[in-house]
Amino acid sequence: MKVTIVGAGNVGATCADVISYRGIASEVILLDIREGFAEGKAMDISQCATNTGFNTVVSGVTNDYTKTANSDVVVITSGIPRKPGMTREELIGINAGIVKTVSENVLVHSPNTIVVVVSNPMDTMTYLALKATGLPKNRIIGMGGALDSSRFRYYLSKALNKPANDISAMVIGGHGDTTMIPLTRLASYNGIPVSEFLSQEELALVAAATMVGGATLTGLLGTSAWYAPGASVAYLVDSILNDQKKMIACSVLLDGEYGQNDICIGVPCIIGKNGIEEILAIELNDAEKAAFAKSADAVRNMNADLKT
Ligand code: NAI
Repeated sequence: MKVTIVGAGNVGATCADVISYRGIASEVILLDIREGFAEGKAMDISQCATNTGFNTVVSGVTNDYTKTANSDVVVITSGIPRKPGMTREELIGINAGIVKTVSENVLVHSPNTIVVVVSNPMDTMTYLALKATGLPKNRIIGMGGALDSSRFRYYLSKALNKPANDISAMVIGGHGDTTMIPLTRLASYNGIPVSEFLSQEELALVAAATMVGGATLTGLLGTSAWYAPGASVAYLVDSILNDQKKMIACSVLLDGEYGQNDICIGVPCIIGKNGIEEILAIELNDAEKAAFAKSADAVRNMNADLKT
C-alpha cells in the first residue's frame, strides 16, 4: 500500500513517521516544493527503521509528481500553518491556491486515489478539493474531527483524572475555534456518561478548552501543533488502507444529512477502503442542532470567500 504526503513540513513528516513505525503502509512518498526538504525528512525517518523496527520504504521528492503514481491514499498537508493570534480561517488566500494545484496534480498520477485534506481552513479546503477535482464525495475526506475528538478526550481525561483511552467522545461541526461542537452529552467513560462524574459547569469548561485546543498550542509553540495532527492523519489513513471501518468524525460533503447541503463539515463517518463508507445519522438535541446549523453557516460563509 502506497501513501503520498504532499507537504513534508511538521504535520506531513510526523504523519509519515507514525505511518512508518506503525507499519500502516509499505511505501510512503513525501513531496514538498522546498528543494531537498522532503528528501531530507524521508532520509531522517528512514534512519529510524532499525531502531524502531519498521520496514516501510520512505522516499522524498521535490515537486516531482511522477514518483507519487498509483498512490492508494494522498494526504495534503501543504500550505502555511497559523501563527499565534491567527485563526485557521485567515490562511484561506494562500492555501486555496496550493490545495487546488496539489489536488489536481496528484490525480494525474493516481486517478483512483483517496484524498485526505489537512490544510486549513480544512472544511473549505476539502470543499475546494472536491470541486477542483470532481471526485465522488467518498474519495475526498477532510481531517479535523479525529484531532479535535482526541483533544476533547485529552481534556476530559484531565477533568476526570482517568486515561484518555477509556473515554469515548466526539467533536462534530466545522474545524474552527468557534465552530466545532464537542458533544459533551454523548461523551462517556467506560460506557458511563461523563455527566455522572462532572457538573455541567465542568463540562462547559472542558468543551471550551477543546475548542481553543489548537490555539493554546499555537500560543505555546509559536506555530501550530504537529504530533497530534500527524497521528490523527495516520489514524485515518490506517482505517482507509486496512479497511478498519472505524467511526471517525470527518469533513465530508453533505447532501441533506444533518439538514445541510453543498458544504463539507465534520460528521461521524465509517472510514474504510472506499474512503467515506457511510455517514452516520446521530440524533442531536435541539441545542446541538442549533449549534450545528450555526457552524454550517460559518463554514458556508468561508466557502464564499473562495470565489472572491
Ligand atoms: P509547515 O509549514 O510545517 O509545512 C507545510 C509544508 O508545505 C512546507 O514544508 C512547505 O514547503 C510545503 N508546501 C507549501 N506549498 C507547497 C506546494 N505547492 N507543494 C508542495 N508542498 C508545499 O506546516 P504544518 O504545521 O505542517 O501545517 C500544514 C497545514 O496543515 C497548515 O495549513 C495547517 O494549518 C494545517 N493543519 C491542519 C490541521 C487539521 O486538523 N486539519 C492540524 C494542524 C495543521
